[in-house]
Amino acid sequence: MEEIIQKEQSHSKQAFTPASDKPHLITDIIPGNTMRVPLPDNELNRVLGGGLVQGSLVLFGGEPGIGKSTLLLQVALTMNKMKVLYVSGEESQDQLRLRAERIGIKNQNCYILTETSIQNIFQQAEALKPELLVIDSIQTLFTGLIDSTPGSISQIRQCTADLMRYAKTTGVPVFIIGHITKDGSIAGPKVLEHMVDTVLQFEGDTHHIYRLLRTTKNRFGSTSELGIYEMTGTGLREVSNPSEVLITAREEPVSGVAIAAVTEGVRPLMIETQALVSTAAYGTPQRSATGYDLRRLSMLLAVLEKRCGFRLAAKDVFLNIAGGIKVEDPAADLAIVTAILSSGEEIPISPRYCFAGEIGLSGEIRPVNRIEQRIAEAEKMGFEQIFISRYNKKEIPKNNHIKVQTVAKMEEFFTKLFG
Ligand code: TYD
Ligand code: MG
Repeated sequence: MEEIIQKEQSHSKQAFTPASDKPHLITDIIPGNTMRVPLPDNELNRVLGGGLVQGSLVLFGGEPGIGKSTLLLQVALTMNKMKVLYVSGEESQDQLRLRAERIGIKNQNCYILTETSIQNIFQQAEALKPELLVIDSIQTLFTGLIDSTPGSISQIRQCTADLMRYAKTTGVPVFIIGHITKDGSIAGPKVLEHMVDTVLQFEGDTHHIYRLLRTTKNRFGSTSELGIYEMTGTGLREVSNPSEVLITAREEPVSGVAIAAVTEGVRPLMIETQALVSTAAYGTPQRSATGYDLRRLSMLLAVLEKRCGFRLAAKDVFLNIAGGIKVEDPAADLAIVTAILSSGEEIPISPRYCFAGEIGLSGEIRPVNRIEQRIAEAEKMGFEQIFISRYNKKEIPKNNHIKVQTVAKMEEFFTKLFG
């Protein structure tokens, strides 16, 4: 469909020409004072790189139902020192009031506006002069200057450009909620991600309670931070010590469970990998993986079969990462093969042991990054032993209380583990 843009009108209203500048020597530039507004949410501050930068435009993406509106309304309600304008084009005032009641925070400084016209929003914002603006969601906004429907590419692009200009000229930080399509991209043009300063992604499995908040772009900080939340009946709760909640507390060790010391960006996490190996009842054995790449699981099974002589070809193998978390860190390999063998051989693994190593095709145990952080986290969590690659040996910190076992080959690993 052709989209008609009224050029004349849009030109005079939108052209923004900042005061012209002359070139400066890079060494003459005085270190800028990027003003950051600390948010009443440590996980959010962490992923933003230490607070929300004044005048910045942050895209907050996620699949429908994951909790985007809940989290940002919660932030809006907890910012009691600042005037916040929460604009919703998705829900009625009454729905928003019900959600606020559910979250249970009262705030005299939080304004709600149900509006979808960007011109009207700016008009209201000019009158109210909020110190933080939240837009829920970019897909519902429209500008009267373009003749296409809300949610279309040109509407999204134009509204984002207008919000960017608003943020830069007023210094008010703006959060834009954006829906993500099933394939994981923010619905609308990719260009949206290029336009904003920061892109945050809210992820998780809606059937589970945990949510991960990742930075995929940040002009004011690193992109390797991770925030973790738990969805409760009264809003989202920050999880400051994720390793504690992702591991099931057990009295007795059970077979088929091994703990992996993984990292998500820079954040070390202890996660529980669970495997169930059983004789295939009907013909073709089944392989399934939840929270882990199925092709990688097949690769690990082939290595176990070929290099270590374990007969798995006629077995069903089910793999699960506890807590609905998705793991991409190859360091989880070692825990996964341990869980598989523990289930296959019915030998429980001590819950005080954890693992961090990548497995290569020839059965070698390869080194992984950030080994010091993984060891430190394991020690902090009270683990007695951690198994890592021998090629990581140089990076092992001195004076740790945890016993660090280094292994180079799968055979050697099994001898050390099972004796
Ligand atoms: P929502 O914030 O509407 O998701 P999004 O804006 O990303 O589409 O939240 C969706 C789910 O969260 C909804 O199924 C209800 C649930 N929820 C809770 O479990 N606890 C709460 O306190 C609230 C407000 C919502
Ligand atoms: Mg919503």
